[in-house]
Amino acid sequence: MTTIAAATPADLPALLELLGQSALPTAGLADHVDTTFVARDAGRVVGSAALELYGTAALLRSVAVAPEQRGHGLGQELTRHALALARRRNIRTVYLLTETAGGFFPRFGFRAIPRDAVDPAVQRSVEFTSACPTSALVMRLELRRQPSAVSREPELPGTADG
Ligand SMILES: CC(C)(COP(=O)(O)OP(=O)(O)OC[C@H]1O[C@@H](n2cnc3c(N)ncnc32)[C@H](O)[C@@H]1OP(=O)(O)O)[C@@H](O)C(=O)NCCC(=O)NCCS
Repeated sequence: MTTIAAATPADLPALLELLGQSALPTAGLADHVDTTFVARDAGRVVGSAALELYGTAALLRSVAVAPEQRGHGLGQELTRHALALARRRNIRTVYLLTETAGGFFPRFGFRAIPRDAVDPAVQRSVEFTSACPTSALVMRLELRRQPSAVSREPELPGTADG
């Protein structure tokens, strides 16, 4: 059975191997292990998705599934875990860079944008400055605030965002 859980520093070697196998950048991931998810199957790391947090913006990266496990929904499940974490951390905008999966992310609401439209804090990340080529596709997802099912704060004047 495959399970998804928060990564620990002990997962790092296996995560880096998976990224290498998936031809994805590894630089900078070690700094974001605490916001990374791993999928494990019989104790082996078979999937990952990581978030780098920059204030109210985040970079989704390292979405990878071991080749023999692809096509069974794991990549989508890992992405959903990362986006749920972004919502819990009050992230408003999630960005990603991809050279190989531009057709995978629109199902979550990501849309292609010009590179210079990215939040400056995210543009300074290792992934943006060195790990991913400038030809990579840049995508953005705006997260809407989820109204609480238990109680709703009264809206303050001028804060309604539609
Ligand atoms: C992209 C990736 C994570 C998808 O994982 P997965 O577990 O195979 O995907 P799922 O089974 O959850 O989803 C399958 C769906 O995604 C689509 N899909 C999978 N990989 C895709 C890709 N590279 N580009 C476009 N669509 C893709 C499939 O066609 C399928 O579509 P359908 O639901 O319309 O039939 C996996 O292929 C991978 O690790 N690729 C290499 C690394 C990579 O490119 N990562 C993304 C950049 S961070």
